Amino acid sequence: MSGPIKRIVVGITGASGAAYAARTLEFLREHTTIEADVVFTKTGRLVWNHEIGTDPENYGFKLWNPGDFTAPFASGSARVDGMMVIPCSSGSAARIAHGLNTDLVGRAADVMLKERRPLVLVVRETPLSVIHLRNLTQLAEAGAVVMPASPGFYHQPKSVQDLVDHVVARALDRLGIDNELFRRWSGLGVENGD
Ligand SMILES: Cc1cc2nc3c(=O)[nH]c(=O)nc-3n(C[C@H](O)[C@H](O)[C@H](O)COP(=O)(O)O)c2cc1C
Repeated sequence: MSGPIKRIVVGITGASGAAYAARTLEFLREHTTIEADVVFTKTGRLVWNHEIGTDPENYGFKLWNPGDFTAPFASGSARVDGMMVIPCSSGSAARIAHGLNTDLVGRAADVMLKERRPLVLVVRETPLSVIHLRNLTQLAEAGAVVMPASPGFYHQPKSVQDLVDHVVARALDRLGIDNELFRRWSGLGVENGD
C-alpha cells in the first residue's frame, strides 16, 4: 500500500466489546479524510444493542446488510485500503481463517487477504482453545494482523474509556491511521526516578 489511507471497511461482529467499535466509529467520524463502510454481522448488531444501545446509524456511515454481497468492497477491484474487524468473534475469525464467505464481513476480509491489503482483527475471546489458536495462527500466516482486545496499562489509564482507547489506537496504528487516542510510551520520565 502506498500513500495515505483513504477508504476502509469496519466489520463489527458478535464478540463482547462493542465499545471498541463505537470508539472506532466515533474516531472515524471526526477523521473526515477517511471514508468508512460499516458492516455488522447479525450477532454483532445484537451485542451492540445490548452493550451500547444507541443507533449506529447516528455515526453517519453507510451500514451494509451482512448478506449484501453487492457491496463494492466485496470485490477486489474496488478501491479499499484496508479493513478492521472490531471486535472480532472467534466464530468470525474461524470463518475468515477458512475462507468461508458466508457473510459480508467474511467476504470483505477474504478480499483483503487475497489482495494483500491490511486486515486487522481485534479478536476477543477468553480462554482460547487450540482450535482458536490454530485459526489465529492461520490468519497471521495469511497476512492478517491479529490483535487481541488486550489493553495495556503503561499509559496509566484512569477510566474504562482509556482502556478502550488504547486498543482502538493500536488497531488504527496497524492500518496506518495516525491518532492520538492515548499517551504513547516515551520512556520513563523524571517523575519515575530516572
Ligand atoms: C452478549 C454476547 C457476548 C458474546 N461475547 C463473545 C466474545 O467475547 N467472543 C466470542 O468469540 N463470541 C462471543 N459471543 C458469541 C458470538 O456472538 C457467537 O459465536 C456468534 O455466532 C458470532 O457470530 P458472528 O461472528 O457472525 O458475529 C457472544 C455472544 C453474546 C450474545
